[in-house]
Amino acid sequence: MEEFDIENVRARWVLDSRGNPTVEAEVFAGDIVGKAIVPSGASKGKREAVELRDGEKAFHGKGVSKAVGNINKIIAPAIKGMDVREQAAIDKKMIEIDGTENKSNLGANAILAVSLACARAASAAANKPLYEYLGDGKLLPVPFMNVINGGEHAGNELAIQEHMIAPVGAATFREAVQMCSEVYQTMKELIKNRYGKNGINVGDEGGFAPPLKSSEEAFEIILDAIEENGYGNKIKLAIDSAATSFYENGFYHMQGKLSTDDLLNFYEDIAGKYPIILMEDPFAEDDWDGFVAITERLGNKIQIVGDDIFVTNKKLLEKGIERRAANALLLKPNQIGTLTESIEVAHYSFKNGYGVMVSHRSGDTCDSFISDLAVALATGKIKSGAPCRAERTEKYNRLMRIEEELGEKARYGIS
Ligand code: PGA
Ligand code: ZN
Repeated sequence: MEEFDIENVRARWVLDSRGNPTVEAEVFAGDIVGKAIVPSGASKGKREAVELRDGEKAFHGKGVSKAVGNINKIIAPAIKGMDVREQAAIDKKMIEIDGTENKSNLGANAILAVSLACARAASAAANKPLYEYLGDGKLLPVPFMNVINGGEHAGNELAIQEHMIAPVGAATFREAVQMCSEVYQTMKELIKNRYGKNGINVGDEGGFAPPLKSSEEAFEIILDAIEENGYGNKIKLAIDSAATSFYENGFYHMQGKLSTDDLLNFYEDIAGKYPIILMEDPFAEDDWDGFVAITERLGNKIQIVGDDIFVTNKKLLEKGIERRAANALLLKPNQIGTLTESIEVAHYSFKNGYGVMVSHRSGDTCDSFISDLAVALATGKIKSGAPCRAERTEKYNRLMRIEEELGEKARYGIS
């Protein structure tokens, strides 16, 4: 055995932020251990790589004992003896053993946990922080913080899932976090005064989930809080509609029953009224025409980000680039299932003039891998929920530590 050869891989289930089990993997190579936990989405795209769940009585069907077993019994012996620094070869090997297009055999949750754990071990082997091991980026991303939750992440009537603030005018990442935290706390007071104390309950991503009927009401609260803190146009707005979740039989059910055209007009209207700089999943995953139309109409001033429509999949992104659908990719490693493929699709996106926003999932843990990934790839954009709840703030806290470590070399900003 060479110094960095994989000696063992061990997996187990742990709980995510929604209290459901998820997969943790540890990779052992010499004196080194790399560990990673995978997150889990709620408003998933139907073409995402498969998150393997047991479907049995335990955890109401959500058990991950098969995925854990696949790591311990199949992946571990298969990658034993491989050099942990050979990320591409390890990922390729797991893809081969799985043998399916969508990783449904071993489970993308099993494969990704091992893939990320190997990268952590390899960065330790190289004696480098993870962000430096993964790429040469020095850019701290603008955090898009989801401060008002709706859709499938909250128990209110808001169709649009995420209402985000983007502190583009901050000088540093640390200042950006402070600005967002202050605005968030002011919002808490405003919401309590306007909607009563039930309004300050938070959704899955830590944003408030007040009983609002329209996204305009959400923007008004946010803008008032920004104003009260004197941040003016230093903080912009963004949304993730997650429109697949309110699309049925050709119509969008939000503030009425809207056609693709009606919804496009709605977006144009709010883009004129509010300082919105980014719209994610404005249309459903199969409504390519909607994506093409909004990119044509608003794409020159707003980033149109594809999440469910691209699911971090290079083939789908290729189709998007060909059709000019959206102008940015949402990067969620667990939608595709390996680190190698995630980095490849990000590079492909940049190469074609598309932006990239790295993203957490609504069910997440204190694993902050995506923070390092965002810096390494210099994406200039990350979203990890509100400045609230440990699984969300840990990503931002990690980024503040990275900024400190990079010192003079650190840059902050959107791209
Ligand atoms: P999810 O939501 O993790 O529930 O899919 C996040 C998103 O839609 O961006
Ligand atoms: Zn989304």
